[in-house]
Amino acid sequence: LIKGVVFDLDGVIADTAVVHHAAWKRLAAEIGIAFDDSVGERLKGVDRRGSLDILLERSPRAYSEDEKEALASRKNDYYRQQIESFGPHNLLPGAHHAIESVRRAGLKTALASASRNAPLLLERLGIADLFDYVVDANHISRAKPDPEIFLAAARGLGLEPSECIGVEDAAAGIASIHAAGMKAVGIGQTPALAEADLLLPNVAAFDISLFTT
Ligand code: BG6
Ligand code: MG
Repeated sequence: LIKGVVFDLDGVIADTAVVHHAAWKRLAAEIGIAFDDSVGERLKGVDRRGSLDILLERSPRAYSEDEKEALASRKNDYYRQQIESFGPHNLLPGAHHAIESVRRAGLKTALASASRNAPLLLERLGIADLFDYVVDANHISRAKPDPEIFLAAARGLGLEPSECIGVEDAAAGIASIHAAGMKAVGIGQTPALAEADLLLPNVAAFDISLFTT
């Protein structure tokens, strides 16, 4: 029996996947690294440092740890400049309703985000109180696709992983959900989500009755 839903944030609830993408693309251009949508897709759901390492796979030169820190923080500055002005209108269409419908059905809700900006974003979007439990990159040590974050979310809800479903827009996230022992709902239309148990074009199509009846 499903008793809880664990939502990813960027690209599922918040319209921020495009903002992360644009910030990495700008950084890549500045340091002369080729960047296309296939790289962009691989970065989804991956934490900041892991994303930088993927980006630098195409670099003709090596970077020191200090340089990498500086690059990651430059990307974060670009990202933060954009979300400074974010508000509830930056929720993806149907996201608020999807989360509320889960609560109305008597199930618990959690958030599992790889972003260290998740607390700021939740506040800006005005949805912090829609979640019974929040886990973000500040609380875990192993990034998606490791199951740690979804396991922590289930534990925080007081549920077994098998009693939860996870909702994700990234391949790394689907892998993390499965490794945690949950069923995975994929949000989006990319072939990268082929492993999802159920694929929906957007979060507006999420209907909790699919899992409770
Ligand atoms: C994930 C995003 O939610 O958070 C990634 O899908 C992002 O694109 C990652 O890199 C880390 O975010 P932040 O805000 O900690 O740099
Ligand atoms: Mg995401």
